[in-house]
This record gives sequence, structure tokens and C-alpha cells, in this order.
Amino acid sequence: MATSVQHDLEELRTRALADLADAVDAPAGEIWEKTYLGPKGELTLFLRGLGALPADERPTAGRAGNALKRELEAAWDSRHRILAAADLDQHLAADAVDVTLPGRPPTIGAAHPVSQMIDELSEIFALLGFQTVFGPEVETAHYNFDLLNIPADHPARDVWDTIHVDLPGEIVMRTHTSPMQARVMEQTEPPVRVVVPGRVYRYEAQDASHEWMFHQLEGLAVDRTITMADLKGVLAELARQLFGPNRRIRFRCDFFPFVEPGVDFAVDCAICGGKGCRVCKQTGWLEMGGAGMVHPKVLAGVGYDPAVYTGFAFGLGIERMTMMRTGVDDVRAFAGNDLRFLRQFAGFA
Ligand code: PHE
Repeated sequence: MATSVQHDLEELRTRALADLADAVDAPAGEIWEKTYLGPKGELTLFLRGLGALPADERPTAGRAGNALKRELEAAWDSRHRILAAADLDQHLAADAVDVTLPGRPPTIGAAHPVSQMIDELSEIFALLGFQTVFGPEVETAHYNFDLLNIPADHPARDVWDTIHVDLPGEIVMRTHTSPMQARVMEQTEPPVRVVVPGRVYRYEAQDASHEWMFHQLEGLAVDRTITMADLKGVLAELARQLFGPNRRIRFRCDFFPFVEPGVDFAVDCAICGGKGCRVCKQTGWLEMGGAGMVHPKVLAGVGYDPAVYTGFAFGLGIERMTMMRTGVDDVRAFAGNDLRFLRQFAGFA
């Protein structure tokens, strides 16, 4: 073999092995393989060019070329393994999931302050033997007015106080939870003891203590021996449970067509202790709602004999109770949907 060919191969070997040692990652390795061993690689071209050599030089040059090919392939094989393993390690390290990192906490909602108060009221009344029931917010005038002894000419039936859904005068958004008195009695034999929390709607202008939608808690107890003393006892216990042992309660005469006698029920203000403040408008008292002994006409209307049965009923403002508990002095805040307001009640109950 001519010394020049031998020399060329020796030079190619030295350069190829040095380059291979310099290939530090998988892409560099691929380039090396292409440069020397690929279809257009230097060694491949050398072997293909053997035919151009003088016949007597071909065998030796061919043997030497093939020997170098095997050597470079072996070198590539072991280098490739190392580079591929390093490449895999690198990807694994880069893609690693750190399972020890704390998770991203999901935002957890909380019950609305009114819902929290409803839950609390249900618990208090459950201990007093009252069942919690719910009724429709879209009512017929029959239940919302007629069965409650609210005559057709009563001002509350005036279109300005009521939100009418359809057929003015026939289907209304309930203006109070009292229609459930009749619904429950129609379906139950006495004794009856229920509370009914829920939304009520009135067509009226809004201010700090009036909303066109708010919540009431209706209460109804009917049995053979119910008296006004039972009503007082139940509402006094409610005030004690909600606002603490030192609250005083006040009943003043009031008129509702479906009770006789009727009262308005107030609690001395828990915020100022009755001294007078912004929440109680300096009066020292906060009205919680109406109450009274169920009117005989209402009992008769659902088929109860008023000579045998008596009962009491009350309808309290739920937002008001929450206001007195917390000092919130504007009822509009509850339906205002301001999360800064609502978040303050997360977990208050
Ligand atoms: N329903 C009355 C109202 O909304 C409240 C009430 C209920 C009064 C039960 C007496 C008895 O104003």
C-alpha cells in the first residue's frame, strides 16, 4: 500500500477519534457519525474510492480501510451509548416533577351569611321541636293572600307592593313566607310545628333597611292548647340562642289580617346593649318581624276546627337577625354580591 494512502488513513483515524472524544452530547455525536460513517461520510467515500487505486494497492488499502471502519464503528457504538444515556438523564432531570412541592390550594367557597343564618335557625328550632320546610317563591294569590284572610281590597294586594309574574292578581312572587302556613296545614293533621326559611319579594324602593328581595323565617305551631305564652317563650328562647342570655324582648300590638291578636316583635339591640346606636337607629330596639295567634278564619280556611285548635305564627327578617349579630348596618350588602363583604363571613357560623 502506498505510503500516502496509509498516511491518509492514519490521519483520518487520529482526527476521527479526537473528534469523537470532543462530541460532548447526543447532537454532536450524530454529526460525528454523519461526518465519518454516514453514506457521505469520509470513510465511506474512501472505501468507495478504492476502485480508483492501482490494482496492486487495492487489497491492502481495502483491508486497512475496513479495519478502520470496524474500529470507528466500535468506538462510535460505545460513545453513542454514553451520550444517549447522558441525554436521557438530562431530559429526566429537566422534566422531573417535584412531588414534595405543596399543591396549589383550590379556592374554596363559603356559605352566604344568610344561608349560614338559615342553618343556625333550623338547628335552634329543631331543638324546640320544629321541622324546617321550604315552599315555592312563585305563589298563587290564593295562598299568598286569600287563605291568609287578606281581602281583595287590602292595600298589600295593590299592584305596587307585589311583583306579579303573570295574570296580574293571580300569580305573584310571594310577598312573605306566610303562604306556607296554609300549604303545610292543608297537608298535615295537627299538631303542626314548622319553620319556613326563604326568599320573599316586594315591589318597593331600596334603602338601608329595605330590599325588593329579602329572606324571612316563618314559624307556625298549631295544637289543642297553644297560647300566646308559647309564642313568647319560643321567641324569647330564639333571642337568647341567637344573641346571648342578656337580651330583652318586646311585643307591641300590631295588625296582620291572619293573626288575632297580632304583635310586632323586637329585641333590645345587641350591638349597643339597648343604649342606642346606628344599627338600631338610636332606639335601643330592633324589630325582628311580626307574630300573633293564628286567626280563626285561617284555621277554618284549611279545614282545622278553630274551636278545637289554636296556634301561633311569626315571620322574622333573616337579614335583620344577621345584621344584629354582626353589626352590618345596610341590608343591601347581602344581595350586593361584593366578595369583599361576603368573604368576611366565611366560617362565621
Ligand atoms: N307575613 C308577615 C309579614 O311579612 C309577618 C307575619 C308572619 C306576621 C306571621 C304575623 C304572623 O310582614
